[in-house]
Amino acid sequence: MFARSAARALQPSARLFSSSASRNFKVAVLGAGGGIGQPLSLLLKNDPLVTSLSLYDIRGAPGVAADVGHVDTPSEVCSFGHIMSEVNGYAADQLDQALEGVKVVVIPAGVPRKPGMTRDDLFNTNASIVRDLASAVARVSPEAHILVISNPVNSTVPIVAATLEKAGVFNPARLFGVTTLDVVRASRFLAGVTGTQPSECNVTVVGGHSGPTIVPLLSQLSHGKSIAGEKYDALVHRIQFGGDEVVKAKDGAGSATLSMAYAGAKFANSLLRGLNGEKGVVTPTFVKSPLFADQGIDFFASNVELGVDGVEKIHPIGEISAEEKKLLDACLPELKKNIEKGKAFVA
Ligand SMILES: NC(=O)c1ccc[n+]([C@@H]2O[C@H](COP(=O)([O-])OP(=O)(O)OC[C@H]3O[C@@H](n4cnc5c(N)ncnc54)[C@H](O)[C@@H]3O)[C@@H](O)[C@H]2O)c1
Repeated sequence: MFARSAARALQPSARLFSSSASRNFKVAVLGAGGGIGQPLSLLLKNDPLVTSLSLYDIRGAPGVAADVGHVDTPSEVCSFGHIMSEVNGYAADQLDQALEGVKVVVIPAGVPRKPGMTRDDLFNTNASIVRDLASAVARVSPEAHILVISNPVNSTVPIVAATLEKAGVFNPARLFGVTTLDVVRASRFLAGVTGTQPSECNVTVVGGHSGPTIVPLLSQLSHGKSIAGEKYDALVHRIQFGGDEVVKAKDGAGSATLSMAYAGAKFANSLLRGLNGEKGVVTPTFVKSPLFADQGIDFFASNVELGVDGVEKIHPIGEISAEEKKLLDACLPELKKNIEKGKAFVA
């Protein structure tokens, strides 16, 4: 009961599009043993569009796979009529096997923040983890769509792009920084202050994924337009720094994992719906973008339409208020620095 309703909540129209037996939506999670990786793997097992799950971590992935593999969500039947083996776990030395034939790779591998840390403080550890995983994707499954969760996203996405570029397999339509948690938080917090439902508060969040680079476009929604003054400042601050609330409350035990897993599964589902031919799937994500490229900022999060080949159309940011223009002015130089740092790491 729970499984069916949860799956529906994640993606209401999957059934319309999910009947093709030849479809390969094998999804790999790299970092599947972690705080995000485990619940994300569970939620992906619950997504009817995922035909097979491949779970990899330097520690613990076979156990997560054995556990998640017992969940009784629907199984896909392949073209020969066999039930596909749905969930496989791979140990530290089995990265290449884990990536064999995957359509989508989700990367939550790396260390999370402790109280007092910024996402950029994670750079030294996570940059090489993400680069090495990207090299493996380039070698084994160069056509895969890559969803980067590991922080700092503003730098790790350019690191993945540069690594794929070096290997001669970079396709900008297939690389995404997952900024969905900012959208989820913005919708939840706006609904909270306006006494409405998050479903009525689908906030577009543009820019990047860290503090001042997170720019919520509240003025584009009727519920958001009415917020002004101190209330507006407090709401924007909470959206930009909501992650700190979780880091502080977890008191050294990590950062957002459950809400992030939810957001990661939500974005993965949007991508799979687009890949599956559904039209009109639009959501913010951090991609190689022309919007501010003339200012040397060639990665940017804005609304993106997802289609059968990944990025189909990058939407402009649209009309914004004077306050949002100020937020954007604060975002751009910081974002530029983060992107350049990522590129320099691979150069
Ligand atoms: N994009 C976002 O909105 C967002 C939100 C929250 C957290 N994060 C980021 O996600 C990352 C993971 O967070 P977490 O809480 O799950 O951390 P965690 O420490 O609980 O889990 C990370 C996992 O990565 C694994 N790992 C480390 N190196 C690896 C490698 N080379 N290959 C495969 N797996 C490897 C670890 O063994 C561990 O299981 C962090 O960088 C965190 O900052 C991003």
